[in-house]
Amino acid sequence: MPAARITGLGMYVPPRVVKNDELRRWFDTSDEWIYTRSGIQERRWVEEPASTAELGYYAAQSALAQADKSPQDLDLIIFATLSPDMYFPGSGVLLQHKLGLETTPALDIRQQCSGFIYGLSVANQFIRTGMYRTILLLGAEIQSTWIDYSPEGRTVGVLFGDGAGAAVIEATDSPGVGILSTHLYSQGAYARELCVAEPSSATRQHILPGSHGMRPYMNGKEVFRHAVQRMGEAIQAALSAQGWTAQEVNLYVLHQANIRIVQAVAEFFGLPMERFYNNIHKYGNTTAASIPICLTEAAQEGRLQRGHKVILAAFGSGFTWGSAALVW
Ligand code: UT7
Repeated sequence: MPAARITGLGMYVPPRVVKNDELRRWFDTSDEWIYTRSGIQERRWVEEPASTAELGYYAAQSALAQADKSPQDLDLIIFATLSPDMYFPGSGVLLQHKLGLETTPALDIRQQCSGFIYGLSVANQFIRTGMYRTILLLGAEIQSTWIDYSPEGRTVGVLFGDGAGAAVIEATDSPGVGILSTHLYSQGAYARELCVAEPSSATRQHILPGSHGMRPYMNGKEVFRHAVQRMGEAIQAALSAQGWTAQEVNLYVLHQANIRIVQAVAEFFGLPMERFYNNIHKYGNTTAASIPICLTEAAQEGRLQRGHKVILAAFGSGFTWGSAALVW
């Protein structure tokens, strides 16, 4: 049975840097509040008009180049996003077309901050069963267009950024490398604790021209509490499945929602923060894009070497969460 291995990584963030202080144009907030509560110093926002599929396209090009693959080599595209270009169809088909492909299948994943982990798991299954050999997995988001810029929007609005990350995942016959296990979870009982409820198929409410139409809601404290507990459990599941101790893992990459969540998880396992790759200070929360953006930068900085034991974990809206254990 072949294993699945990440052979190429790429990322793209828009050039516009939005520092915490700039957010004071809309919100009653401060650099000090945002940094001490979340670890964020700045994020990237697109200049409108922009397209999530296009951000994904730039990241995909880098990942394909690193894997020495052309779009024609792809058997499947998996696109994880909570901010698709259109209500439907998903951004995967738009990316497929941008890549110049004719009929390559494209699958969108709607698992928010856990989207990349879910996508990795789907890619792993397709490769392990022998159905496909080369898969492109995207996490891409444009969130600056759904932020609620009214005063009530400040808790959510200061946290999110735009960006994209991509991974090429290929079949390998080398034993003991690549994606070794994934663990996925969800709990819809908490769907309304972090959501954008409109536009919705449940209502006939029409969005008026010029109106925002979307109002993100987050119960920050409740989400925080679950994030720490659930990512801890998912990491433990990955460790147990591999028979690894927490200490022998070379690098942990957790979804970048709040540096204090990562600190709490590190403390729970008795690990130093250096064992966790973080870049939330530069990009904020980029939802499905955050893990592949971290992986791309970690690889560029030499923090991911062949043979390294790596654990990825994410938690987000749904609630959804999960982990993956890899040997790099
Ligand atoms: O990626 C998906 C998963 N998302 C997460 O994991 C996010 C989880 N939650 C969090 O990261 C944190 O709960 C937040 C960063 C969202 C909030 O931090 P907190 O320490 O839980 O603050 P809080 O919500 O308890 O708010 C404390 C105070 C409140 O004022 P009062 O009631 O104490 O007077 C808020 O109104 O801070 C106020 N506040 C703000 N002040 C300045 C809320 N947002 C802001 C703001 N600037 N942007």
